[in-house]
Order: sequence, then C-alpha cells, then structure tokens
Amino acid sequence: MHFSSADTPSPRDGVLIERRAHVLNRFDDRIPVIYRQPIDLHEDIANWIAGWGGGSLFLTGSIGVGKTHTAWHTCRRWLQAQYAPGEPWQGSPLVKTYRSTALFDALRPDAPGGEGRSLVHELQECDLLFIDDLAAAKASTWTQERLFELFDERYINRRPVIITCDVLPNELSEVTGPRVASRLAEMCRNSVVLLEGDDRRTGAAA
Ligand SMILES: Nc1ncnc2c1ncn2[C@@H]1O[C@H](COP(=O)(O)OP(=O)(O)OP(=O)(O)O)[C@@H](O)[C@H]1O
Ligand SMILES: [Mg+2]
Repeated sequence: MHFSSADTPSPRDGVLIERRAHVLNRFDDRIPVIYRQPIDLHEDIANWIAGWGGGSLFLTGSIGVGKTHTAWHTCRRWLQAQYAPGEPWQGSPLVKTYRSTALFDALRPDAPGGEGRSLVHELQECDLLFIDDLAAAKASTWTQERLFELFDERYINRRPVIITCDVLPNELSEVTGPRVASRLAEMCRNSVVLLEGDDRRTGAAA
C-alpha cells in the first residue's frame, strides 16, 4: 500500500495498527467455524459499538435467528474499535467468551485443572465478557451464586458483558436470580436488541 507523507502513520499509530491486526487475527482463530463468515450487524449494535461508554449489550430473539453469530462479530468489532486513534488502551483488551453450560462446568470447584476460583477472577476482570445462551444452563442456587459473583464485580467496575439469551430481560430473574437480573437491567439499559426473523437453520429465513 502506498502512503503519501500526509498518510504516513505516526510511529505510535503504526504500532497500534500492527497490534490491532495481530489481536484481530488471534480473535478470528477463536471464532467457531460456522460463525466465521462476516455479517452486517444490526444498526443498534453498530451504534452501541460506535458510542460505547462502558455499557453492556443484551441480544435476544428466538431460536436460530443469529444471536450467537451476531455476538461473535460484535465482540470482534468492539475489539477493533478499541484500537481507533485516540483510544486509551495501554495493552491489548482481553475478551473472554463462554457458553453458559461450559462456563458452569469450568467454574465447578472440582473442574479438571482446579481452575474454578482463578477463572472467577479472570471473568470478573477481563475487558469484555461474552456469555452465550445465558438461559441454556439449568438454574440452581449454585449457578445463581456464581453469576452474582461475576456480574456484581463487573457491574460495580462498569466492565461490559455481551449476553445472548432467548429469554427477555424482564423474565430473566428465574434464570439468574433477582439480584443479577436487576444489575443486568442497568448494565444493558438502552442496549437490549431483539433480533427478529425465522430460524436460519431451517432455511426459512429470508
Ligand atoms: N446475519 C447472518 N447471515 C447469514 N447467516 C447467519 C447470520 N446470522 C446467523 N447466521 C447463521 O444462522 C445459523 C444460526 O445462527 P446462530 O447459531 O447464531 O443462531 P442463534 O440465534 O444463536 O440460535 P440459538 O437460539 O439456537 O442459540 C448459523 O448457521 C449461523 O451461521
Ligand atoms: Mg446461539
């Protein structure tokens, strides 16, 4: 690519551009195969990324409308946006992604490798946490306590989460318990996005 002198990136921007490419390539490798195809994001999601100020995002909709696919690419676009000129990141943002069922397996005290407690801290502190299919895991007092540990810490520090869920936020209490549902309502205020359409897996979607 040719740069005129006016287009030549400053040394700092050059480092950022290189780092961004490296981080995005690494993120692309983590995207599950069927979700790799780039997609256009819903306008409200694009606006959420562009105007991001620490808030969280709740993606809902019925089975197969594209919530998970959308969430992966939202994480990617969010990550990319952190490297825009003038953004304050010192290091590389850490994005953690979990399906809720796998999350609770990994958090168990008897999980292989015994990483349960250290994982709690990682998930409390990472820069962006994406939990897929929040309502998929069977709710119990134990799952609700684990969610409270994660969400309360992220809530008080204004650290974002991206949630996909086929349950509407006002019906979440049964899944997450009332205290998590209350925090999520504030974290995702004005950023609950309903994806509409048919189940794309059946081929009925437009
Ligand atoms: N915008 C899109 N364009 C084309 N294909 C898409 C798009 N979004 C999703 N898909 C495809 O549709 C299928 C279903 O998507 P996805 O798994 O994201 O749905 P979901 O809403 O998360 O479903 P579930 O509620 O069962 O978890 C996948 O094959 C996915 O790659
Ligand atoms: Mg899904």
